[in-house]
Amino acid sequence: MELLKVSNYDEMSERACSFIIEKINHTSLPVLGLATGSTPEGLYQHLIRSYQNDEASFNHVHTFNLDEYVGLPKADKNSYDYYMNEKLFKHIGIPREQTHLPNGNAPDLKQEASDYESLIQQTGNVDIQILGLGLNGHIGFNEPGTPFSSRTHVVDLDDSTREANARFFSSINEVPEQAITMGIETIMESNEIILLVSGESKAAALARLMDGEVSEDFPASILNRHPNVRIIADVAACSSL
Ligand code: GLP
Repeated sequence: MELLKVSNYDEMSERACSFIIEKINHTSLPVLGLATGSTPEGLYQHLIRSYQNDEASFNHVHTFNLDEYVGLPKADKNSYDYYMNEKLFKHIGIPREQTHLPNGNAPDLKQEASDYESLIQQTGNVDIQILGLGLNGHIGFNEPGTPFSSRTHVVDLDDSTREANARFFSSINEVPEQAITMGIETIMESNEIILLVSGESKAAALARLMDGEVSEDFPASILNRHPNVRIIADVAACSSL
C-alpha cells in the first residue's frame, strides 16, 4: 500500500480526481468502482469540473457502486442511487445504462446480489475502485467479521454503522437495517484501489489499517494484501500514525 499524505480534504479530492481522469483518458473501456458517504463528495465535484472544462469525457465509462441500502425507494434522498445521480451522474454526461448500483428494492435480494456480482464479472475487472473507510474498518458495507472470500451479498448493518450514518436521516430509526454490498473478494479483484481517508475521526481506523495486521475483525486490513492500493489521506486522518 502506498500512502499519499496530503494537507486537506480538497487536496485529497483533487489528487484522486487526477488519477481517475488519467485512467479514463487512457483506457478504451474504463470501469470505475464508486463509493458513497461524505468522503468522495469532493472527488465527485472535481470530476464534474473536469468534465465541464473539457478535460474528460465519460461517454465510454462504466461504473459499479459498492453498495445500496435495502428498502429505500430510488427517489429517497438517502438512497445511494439518488446520491450518485445528484452528486455525479447527471452532471457528467455519462449514459445512465452504463452506471450500476445494486437494487435494494429487488423482490429477491439474494438473487439481486448474485446478479450484480455476475454483471461485474461480465463487464470485466474494475480498473479503479474508490473506497472510503468506515470507523469500524468497514469497506463498502462489509462489516467486521465478513469473510474475506465474500462476494456481493446482503448484509445486516452494525449498530455503529447505522449510528454513524444516522446524521443523514431524521432519526436512527429511519436508517435501513440491511444493505447489499460488493463482497471483499469482489473489491480485491479490482486492478487498482484508491482509499480516501479524511478527518481526525478516521485517524484510529487508518492507524489500525497501517499497522499491517490482516484480520476479518477489521475488513479494510485485507487491503494490505492487494498489489495496487493507493491511500490518499489528509493530515488530520494521519494524526495517529
Ligand atoms: C458508509 C458507506 C461506505 C463509506 C463509509 C464511510 O457507510 N457504505 O461506502 O465508505 O461508510 O463513510 P463516510 O465517507 O461518510 O465517512
